[in-house]
Amino acid sequence: MTGWKRLLIAPLALLLAIGGAPAVSGQGTPAAETASGTCLPEGGIPQKDHYLIGMSQANKGEPWRQAMNDQIAAAAAAHPELEVVFADAAQNNAKQVADVENFLQQGIDLLIISPNEAAPLTDVVAKACAQNVPVIVLDRKVNGNQFTMWIGADNVEIGRHAGEYAANYCTEKDLNPCNVIEIRGLEGSTPAKERGDGFREGLASNPNAKIIAQQNADWLREKAIPVSQAMFQANPDVDVVYGHNDPMTEAAIISAQNAGLNMDDMLFIGIDALPTPDGGIRSVLDGRIDVTYVYPTGGAQAIDFATQVLEQGAVPPDEVVLETEEVVPDNAQQLLEKYGGGGAAATPGA
Ligand code: FRU
Repeated sequence: MTGWKRLLIAPLALLLAIGGAPAVSGQGTPAAETASGTCLPEGGIPQKDHYLIGMSQANKGEPWRQAMNDQIAAAAAAHPELEVVFADAAQNNAKQVADVENFLQQGIDLLIISPNEAAPLTDVVAKACAQNVPVIVLDRKVNGNQFTMWIGADNVEIGRHAGEYAANYCTEKDLNPCNVIEIRGLEGSTPAKERGDGFREGLASNPNAKIIAQQNADWLREKAIPVSQAMFQANPDVDVVYGHNDPMTEAAIISAQNAGLNMDDMLFIGIDALPTPDGGIRSVLDGRIDVTYVYPTGGAQAIDFATQVLEQGAVPPDEVVLETEEVVPDNAQQLLEKYGGGGAAATPGA
């Protein structure tokens, strides 16, 4: 990738994108300025009537990932010249590598990938790039810079907000010590480290707040149930639960209930804030999760940039950072309405 270009997209722009307006405009630079790392062919991409896009998804089993695929499909539906084929790696790195190889053999014009883990997917992404197939990396990252662009939210920032929220809660409740447990995402996926690191930065503003236990549950609700159950057994005196995503926080709520803990004295923090019936915004409204953070999928933006790259000869920015929002009981109803209260096209990031 060339130089350092960073673009911040506000939620309003995301909403405009639902209505068909471009999420961003004018950020691309002419192909003449192309340098190595953009994966674009020397003389530009040949114009065609039909473009095939391969979308390699890490795992379709999770609601947030289904929302991403739905947003990509909805955005692409407005472009009859685009055909998107989807592959589901079912959390398996080797399967995702094979999925991308398969796409390359099919002769895709552009690759969109949300990688399961960074290191195992880096080489195959670089291979696509070396074959002059533009690559848009979504949400989780790969290593290095052999791709065209990355689109996603700032997970360190989200983690920091969550840590500050927890630190303030501990101060307001005058808790000393204030015991925090953390349920982490899949360790080889970049958001897990970033959400963990940011959280520690934010929490540091209150020296009485301490992470007394941390466990990995790979982003999965079903895995987080036994994990959180064991954590509460070993640590019955917990004040704050930080789950790296809403499904794992929901699992911890169930475990805390089953353990007979006093839920009124506990703060539950999640991330994702889907506006779906079983998503995080409704959970806040229903009084289960206390605070969560909108994590836009970037699906609509990926299609927007794909058309710019394929059809307008644009060289997109190296990265596009999508904005988050904090969801608390006071604004949950408003945010549910803002994001459409359900339906794929209206979820955050659409
Ligand atoms: C879905 C998911 C989301 C999370 C994101 C991080 O696979 O776990 O819940 O926010 O991935 O990459």
